[in-house]
Amino acid sequence: MDALEAIRKRRSVRKYTGEPIPREDIETIVDAGRLAATGSNKQPWVFIVVTDREMIMSLKRAAEWMGNAGAIIGVVMDPASRWWVEDGSAAIENMLLAATALGYGSCWLEGYTLPLEEELKQLLGVPENKRLLTLIPLGVPVEWPTREKKSLNEVLRWEKY
Ligand SMILES: Cc1cc2nc3c(=O)[nH]c(=O)nc-3n(C[C@H](O)[C@H](O)[C@H](O)COP(=O)(O)O)c2cc1C
Repeated sequence: MDALEAIRKRRSVRKYTGEPIPREDIETIVDAGRLAATGSNKQPWVFIVVTDREMIMSLKRAAEWMGNAGAIIGVVMDPASRWWVEDGSAAIENMLLAATALGYGSCWLEGYTLPLEEELKQLLGVPENKRLLTLIPLGVPVEWPTREKKSLNEVLRWEKY
């Protein structure tokens, strides 16, 4: 699948079969995150991959439906870096697209993660001075949702607002 196809196909997928994901596919996905654009090339990230079923069950307190994920990626950022949120977001989107290209469902889980950040950081052994920006569940999709998007005409302006 080429990049444009993956961009058009990507949707938040929240239903997974529970099948495991091969290690090399997970590495390909994280590698896409590693290669994201990053302010001043700081690369202020570490990606924690969880495949252990027991840990997945613990992490699902952030979202019950994550229980059937084959893996969960924790995106850990260094807030000492000025653009840590932007950098983390670029890495997340790259990983969602890579997951889509490989046929896996994924979801950007931040709204549910941040309120539990301290608890989740402890579970994952994240140092006090780092931030857990997002969890990204990955799984073999049960279904691929469609979701309404604004049309190009609604959001594209030429030359001025
Ligand atoms: C910053 C951010 C935070 C999000 N947090 C959550 C979340 O906590 N739980 C969730 O189920 N989806 C979360 N999402 C996914 C959005 O709900 C989803 O992207 C949106 O509904 C559009 O659907 P689509 O991803 O299928 O295009 C988040 C997405 C973004 C960009």
